[in-house]
Amino acid sequence: MTDGEAPTGAWDEGPFRLPNRTALVTGAGRGVGEGIARALAAAGAAVAVNDLHPDRADRVVAEIAAAGGRASAVPFDVTDAEGLAVALERIRETFGGVDILVHNAGIPDGGSTMVRFGDMPSEAWRQQIELNLVATMRLVQAVLPHQVARGWGRIIHISSGASSRGLALGVGAYGAAKAGSEALMRHLGVEYGPVGITANSLALGIMTGLEDSGSGLLQRLVQSVPIRRLGTGADVGAAAVWLSSAAGGFVNSLASHLTGGTACGR
Ligand SMILES: NC(=O)c1ccc[n+]([C@@H]2O[C@H](COP(=O)([O-])OP(=O)(O)OC[C@H]3O[C@@H](n4cnc5c(N)ncnc54)[C@H](O)[C@@H]3O)[C@@H](O)[C@H]2O)c1
Repeated sequence: MTDGEAPTGAWDEGPFRLPNRTALVTGAGRGVGEGIARALAAAGAAVAVNDLHPDRADRVVAEIAAAGGRASAVPFDVTDAEGLAVALERIRETFGGVDILVHNAGIPDGGSTMVRFGDMPSEAWRQQIELNLVATMRLVQAVLPHQVARGWGRIIHISSGASSRGLALGVGAYGAAKAGSEALMRHLGVEYGPVGITANSLALGIMTGLEDSGSGLLQRLVQSVPIRRLGTGADVGAAAVWLSSAAGGFVNSLASHLTGGTACGR
Protein backbone atom coordinates (compact mmCIF):
# COMPACT_ATOMS: atom_id res chain seq x y z
CA MET A 1 0.00 0.00 0.00
CA THR A 2 1.30 3.51 -0.85
CA ASP A 3 0.27 6.83 0.72
CA GLY A 4 -2.05 7.52 -2.22
CA GLU A 5 -4.13 4.36 -1.78
CA ALA A 6 -7.04 3.57 0.51
CA PRO A 7 -6.18 1.08 3.27
CA THR A 8 -6.82 -2.60 2.61
CA GLY A 9 -7.93 -3.57 6.12
CA ALA A 10 -5.13 -6.01 6.98
CA TRP A 11 -5.02 -4.99 10.66
CA ASP A 12 -2.95 -7.84 12.03
CA GLU A 13 -0.48 -5.88 14.18
CA GLY A 14 -0.64 -5.69 18.00
CA PRO A 15 -1.90 -2.32 19.25
CA PHE A 16 -4.53 -2.07 16.53
CA ARG A 17 -6.04 -5.51 17.20
CA LEU A 18 -9.52 -5.75 18.73
CA PRO A 19 -9.64 -9.22 20.32
CA ASN A 20 -12.52 -9.93 22.70
CA ARG A 21 -14.39 -6.87 21.46
CA THR A 22 -17.90 -6.72 20.08
CA ALA A 23 -18.91 -3.88 17.77
CA LEU A 24 -22.31 -2.68 16.58
CA VAL A 25 -22.19 -0.72 13.32
CA THR A 26 -25.47 0.88 12.23
CA GLY A 27 -26.34 1.26 8.54
CA ALA A 28 -23.56 -1.19 7.70
CA GLY A 29 -25.27 -2.91 4.78
CA ARG A 30 -23.41 -0.80 2.22
CA GLY A 31 -21.24 2.29 1.74
CA VAL A 32 -19.28 3.77 4.61
CA GLY A 33 -20.82 1.49 7.25
CA GLU A 34 -19.84 -1.61 5.28
CA GLY A 35 -16.25 -0.33 5.17
CA ILE A 36 -16.31 0.21 8.94
CA ALA A 37 -17.80 -3.25 9.65
CA ARG A 38 -15.23 -4.96 7.42
CA ALA A 39 -12.30 -3.11 8.99
CA LEU A 40 -13.40 -3.81 12.58
CA ALA A 41 -13.92 -7.50 11.73
CA ALA A 42 -10.50 -7.66 10.03
CA ALA A 43 -9.01 -6.25 13.24
CA GLY A 44 -10.54 -9.13 15.22
CA ALA A 45 -13.81 -7.72 16.58
CA ALA A 46 -17.09 -9.63 16.39
CA VAL A 47 -19.37 -7.30 14.46
CA ALA A 48 -23.14 -6.88 14.69
CA VAL A 49 -24.03 -5.60 11.22
CA ASN A 50 -27.15 -3.43 11.36
CA ASP A 51 -29.18 -2.16 8.43
CA LEU A 52 -32.77 -1.32 7.66
CA HIS A 53 -32.58 -3.82 4.79
CA PRO A 54 -31.91 -7.40 6.03
CA ASP A 55 -30.55 -8.53 2.64
CA ARG A 56 -27.85 -5.84 2.76
CA ALA A 57 -26.79 -6.83 6.28
CA ASP A 58 -26.79 -10.54 5.32
CA ARG A 59 -24.51 -9.91 2.33
CA VAL A 60 -21.95 -8.00 4.43
CA VAL A 61 -22.04 -10.70 7.13
CA ALA A 62 -21.47 -13.44 4.53
CA GLU A 63 -18.52 -11.56 3.03
CA ILE A 64 -16.94 -10.92 6.44
CA ALA A 65 -17.34 -14.62 7.29
CA ALA A 66 -15.82 -15.63 3.93
CA ALA A 67 -12.80 -13.46 4.78
CA GLY A 68 -12.42 -15.29 8.12
CA GLY A 69 -14.11 -12.69 10.33
CA ARG A 70 -16.95 -12.92 12.87
CA ALA A 71 -20.22 -11.11 12.18
CA SER A 72 -23.94 -11.38 12.68
CA ALA A 73 -26.81 -9.54 10.98
CA VAL A 74 -29.03 -7.38 13.23
CA PRO A 75 -31.52 -5.66 10.93
CA PHE A 76 -33.63 -2.99 12.61
CA ASP A 77 -34.64 0.63 12.15
CA VAL A 78 -32.42 2.74 14.42
CA THR A 79 -35.18 5.37 14.68
CA ASP A 80 -37.63 2.85 16.14
CA ALA A 81 -37.16 2.82 19.94
CA GLU A 82 -38.89 -0.55 20.43
CA GLY A 83 -37.05 -2.27 17.57
CA LEU A 84 -33.80 -0.95 18.92
CA ALA A 85 -34.48 -2.28 22.43
CA VAL A 86 -35.34 -5.75 21.08
CA ALA A 87 -32.26 -5.81 18.82
CA LEU A 88 -29.95 -4.67 21.62
CA GLU A 89 -31.29 -7.47 23.82
CA ARG A 90 -30.52 -9.97 21.04
CA ILE A 91 -27.01 -8.56 20.64
CA ARG A 92 -26.51 -8.93 24.42
CA GLU A 93 -27.57 -12.59 24.23
CA THR A 94 -25.42 -13.36 21.16
CA PHE A 95 -22.33 -11.30 21.91
CA GLY A 96 -22.58 -10.32 25.58
CA GLY A 97 -22.92 -6.57 24.96
CA VAL A 98 -21.66 -3.79 22.70
CA ASP A 99 -18.08 -2.73 23.49
CA ILE A 100 -17.76 -0.54 20.40
CA LEU A 101 -20.74 1.44 19.07
CA VAL A 102 -20.44 3.06 15.65
CA HIS A 103 -23.56 5.04 14.74
CA ASN A 104 -23.17 5.41 11.00
CA ALA A 105 -26.74 5.28 9.59
CA GLY A 106 -27.36 8.92 8.71
CA ILE A 107 -28.91 9.11 5.26
CA PRO A 108 -32.67 8.37 5.33
CA ASP A 109 -33.83 5.41 3.27
CA GLY A 110 -34.74 6.78 -0.16
CA GLY A 111 -32.41 9.77 0.28
CA SER A 112 -32.58 13.18 1.94
CA THR A 113 -34.89 16.03 0.97
CA MET A 114 -32.35 18.69 -0.04
CA VAL A 115 -34.02 22.11 -0.17
CA ARG A 116 -33.39 25.44 1.53
CA PHE A 117 -34.48 25.16 5.14
CA GLY A 118 -37.46 27.50 4.80
CA ASP A 119 -38.92 25.18 2.15
CA MET A 120 -38.24 21.95 4.01
CA PRO A 121 -41.38 20.11 5.21
CA SER A 122 -41.32 19.49 8.96
CA GLU A 123 -41.47 15.69 8.38
CA ALA A 124 -38.20 15.93 6.44
CA TRP A 125 -36.27 17.87 9.07
CA ARG A 126 -37.72 15.79 11.88
CA GLN A 127 -36.50 12.67 10.04
CA GLN A 128 -32.96 14.11 10.04
CA ILE A 129 -33.13 14.86 13.77
CA GLU A 130 -34.52 11.35 14.51
CA LEU A 131 -31.80 9.57 12.52
CA ASN A 132 -28.80 11.78 13.24
CA LEU A 133 -29.45 12.92 16.82
CA VAL A 134 -32.30 11.09 18.64
CA ALA A 135 -31.07 7.67 17.46
CA THR A 136 -27.54 8.53 18.63
CA MET A 137 -28.91 9.34 22.09
CA ARG A 138 -30.96 6.14 22.31
CA LEU A 139 -28.11 3.95 21.06
CA VAL A 140 -25.67 5.50 23.52
CA GLN A 141 -28.05 4.98 26.47
CA ALA A 142 -28.60 1.39 25.36
CA VAL A 143 -24.88 0.47 25.27
CA LEU A 144 -23.56 2.51 28.22
CA PRO A 145 -24.62 0.14 31.06
CA HIS A 146 -22.56 -2.71 29.55
CA GLN A 147 -19.58 -0.44 28.81
CA VAL A 148 -19.61 1.06 32.31
CA ALA A 149 -19.85 -2.42 33.88
CA ARG A 150 -16.94 -3.60 31.73
CA GLY A 151 -14.89 -0.47 32.46
CA TRP A 152 -14.15 -0.10 28.74
CA GLY A 153 -16.01 1.24 25.76
CA ARG A 154 -15.79 3.11 22.51
CA ILE A 155 -18.53 5.32 21.05
CA ILE A 156 -18.05 6.63 17.52
CA HIS A 157 -20.47 8.88 15.69
CA ILE A 158 -20.15 9.24 11.92
CA SER A 159 -20.66 12.90 11.12
CA SER A 160 -20.23 15.22 8.17
CA GLY A 161 -18.49 18.47 7.27
CA ALA A 162 -22.04 19.90 7.17
CA SER A 163 -21.92 19.92 10.99
CA SER A 164 -19.50 22.82 11.15
CA ARG A 165 -19.63 24.59 7.81
CA GLY A 166 -22.44 26.51 6.10
CA LEU A 167 -23.30 24.92 2.74
CA ALA A 168 -25.89 26.06 0.17
CA LEU A 169 -26.89 22.45 -0.51
CA GLY A 170 -30.13 22.07 1.42
CA VAL A 171 -28.42 20.25 4.29
CA GLY A 172 -29.19 22.63 7.18
CA ALA A 173 -31.29 20.18 9.22
CA TYR A 174 -28.85 17.35 8.51
CA GLY A 175 -25.91 19.55 9.59
CA ALA A 176 -27.73 20.70 12.72
CA ALA A 177 -28.47 17.10 13.75
CA LYS A 178 -24.89 15.99 13.08
CA ALA A 179 -23.58 18.96 15.11
CA GLY A 180 -25.85 17.91 17.98
CA SER A 181 -24.38 14.41 18.01
CA GLU A 182 -20.84 15.83 17.83
CA ALA A 183 -21.63 17.90 20.93
CA LEU A 184 -22.99 14.80 22.67
CA MET A 185 -19.71 12.95 21.92
CA ARG A 186 -17.69 15.80 23.44
CA HIS A 187 -19.71 15.66 26.65
CA LEU A 188 -19.75 11.84 26.81
CA GLY A 189 -15.97 11.69 26.48
CA VAL A 190 -15.61 13.94 29.52
CA GLU A 191 -18.37 12.29 31.56
CA TYR A 192 -17.28 8.71 30.87
CA GLY A 193 -13.52 9.02 30.20
CA PRO A 194 -12.85 8.36 33.90
CA VAL A 195 -14.54 4.94 33.62
CA GLY A 196 -12.64 3.84 30.50
CA ILE A 197 -15.03 4.97 27.74
CA THR A 198 -14.03 7.30 24.90
CA ALA A 199 -16.44 9.09 22.54
CA ASN A 200 -15.51 10.70 19.24
CA SER A 201 -16.92 11.80 15.88
CA LEU A 202 -15.53 11.20 12.42
CA ALA A 203 -16.81 13.99 10.14
CA LEU A 204 -16.63 12.92 6.51
CA GLY A 205 -16.45 14.81 3.25
CA ILE A 206 -15.67 14.06 -0.40
CA MET A 207 -16.52 10.36 -0.30
CA THR A 208 -17.07 7.84 -3.08
CA GLY A 209 -20.70 7.75 -4.15
CA LEU A 210 -20.72 11.48 -4.89
CA GLU A 211 -19.38 10.76 -8.38
CA ASP A 212 -22.80 9.46 -9.46
CA SER A 213 -24.23 12.97 -9.18
CA GLY A 214 -23.39 14.11 -12.72
CA SER A 215 -21.02 13.87 -15.67
CA GLY A 216 -17.66 15.58 -15.26
CA LEU A 217 -18.28 15.97 -11.54
CA LEU A 218 -15.88 13.18 -10.60
CA GLN A 219 -12.87 14.91 -12.18
CA ARG A 220 -13.74 18.23 -10.55
CA LEU A 221 -14.22 16.57 -7.19
CA VAL A 222 -10.92 14.69 -7.33
CA GLN A 223 -9.10 17.89 -8.34
CA SER A 224 -10.58 19.65 -5.29
CA VAL A 225 -9.02 17.11 -2.90
CA PRO A 226 -5.39 17.80 -1.96
CA ILE A 227 -4.53 14.08 -1.97
CA ARG A 228 -6.30 13.70 -5.37
CA ARG A 229 -8.71 10.91 -4.64
CA LEU A 230 -12.11 10.47 -3.00
CA GLY A 231 -12.43 8.89 0.41
CA THR A 232 -13.72 5.33 0.79
CA GLY A 233 -15.46 3.23 3.42
CA ALA A 234 -12.07 1.61 4.02
CA ASP A 235 -10.59 5.02 4.96
CA VAL A 236 -13.31 5.51 7.55
CA GLY A 237 -12.90 1.89 8.68
CA ALA A 238 -9.18 2.51 9.30
CA ALA A 239 -9.99 5.52 11.47
CA ALA A 240 -12.67 3.54 13.35
CA VAL A 241 -10.15 0.73 14.05
CA TRP A 242 -7.66 3.28 15.37
CA LEU A 243 -10.23 4.95 17.65
CA SER A 244 -11.43 1.52 18.85
CA SER A 245 -7.98 0.12 19.55
CA ALA A 246 -5.61 0.37 22.50
CA ALA A 247 -3.46 2.58 20.27
CA GLY A 248 -6.31 5.10 19.98
CA GLY A 249 -7.12 5.20 23.69
CA PHE A 250 -5.87 8.77 24.21
CA VAL A 251 -8.17 10.17 21.51
CA ASN A 252 -11.31 11.38 23.26
CA SER A 253 -14.08 14.02 22.84
CA LEU A 254 -12.78 14.83 19.36
CA ALA A 255 -14.42 15.48 15.98
CA SER A 256 -11.88 14.52 13.29
CA HIS A 257 -12.47 15.63 9.71
CA LEU A 258 -11.73 12.95 7.12
CA THR A 259 -11.62 14.90 3.88
CA GLY A 260 -8.24 14.26 2.24
CA GLY A 261 -7.34 17.82 3.21
CA THR A 262 -10.30 19.70 1.68
CA ALA A 263 -11.61 22.56 3.76
CA CYS A 264 -14.90 20.90 4.84
CA GLY A 265 -15.53 21.77 8.44
CA ARG A 266 -12.64 24.17 8.89
N1 LIG B 1 -21.07 9.25 1.54
C1 LIG B 1 -20.73 10.51 1.78
O1 LIG B 1 -20.32 11.25 0.88
C2 LIG B 1 -20.82 11.08 3.16
C3 LIG B 1 -20.33 12.35 3.43
C4 LIG B 1 -20.44 12.87 4.72
C5 LIG B 1 -21.01 12.08 5.74
N2 LIG B 1 -21.50 10.85 5.44
C6 LIG B 1 -22.11 10.06 6.52
O2 LIG B 1 -21.67 8.72 6.46
C7 LIG B 1 -22.70 7.84 6.89
C8 LIG B 1 -22.95 6.75 5.86
O3 LIG B 1 -23.27 7.34 4.62
P1 LIG B 1 -23.34 6.46 3.28
O4 LIG B 1 -23.08 7.42 2.16
O5 LIG B 1 -22.50 5.24 3.40
O6 LIG B 1 -24.90 6.07 3.28
P2 LIG B 1 -25.68 4.99 2.39
O7 LIG B 1 -27.02 5.53 2.15
O8 LIG B 1 -24.85 4.55 1.23
O9 LIG B 1 -25.77 3.72 3.36
C9 LIG B 1 -26.36 3.84 4.61
C10 LIG B 1 -27.07 2.55 5.00
O10 LIG B 1 -27.83 2.90 6.16
C11 LIG B 1 -29.06 2.21 6.12
N3 LIG B 1 -30.06 2.94 6.88
C12 LIG B 1 -30.72 4.09 6.54
N4 LIG B 1 -31.61 4.42 7.47
C13 LIG B 1 -31.51 3.47 8.44
C14 LIG B 1 -32.20 3.24 9.66
N5 LIG B 1 -33.18 4.07 10.06
N6 LIG B 1 -31.87 2.18 10.42
C15 LIG B 1 -30.90 1.33 10.02
N7 LIG B 1 -30.22 1.47 8.85
C16 LIG B 1 -30.53 2.54 8.07
C17 LIG B 1 -29.43 2.16 4.66
O11 LIG B 1 -30.32 1.10 4.40
C18 LIG B 1 -28.05 2.00 3.98
O12 LIG B 1 -27.77 0.64 3.69
C19 LIG B 1 -23.91 8.72 7.17
O13 LIG B 1 -24.00 9.03 8.55
C20 LIG B 1 -23.63 9.99 6.39
O14 LIG B 1 -24.27 11.11 6.95
C21 LIG B 1 -21.41 10.33 4.19
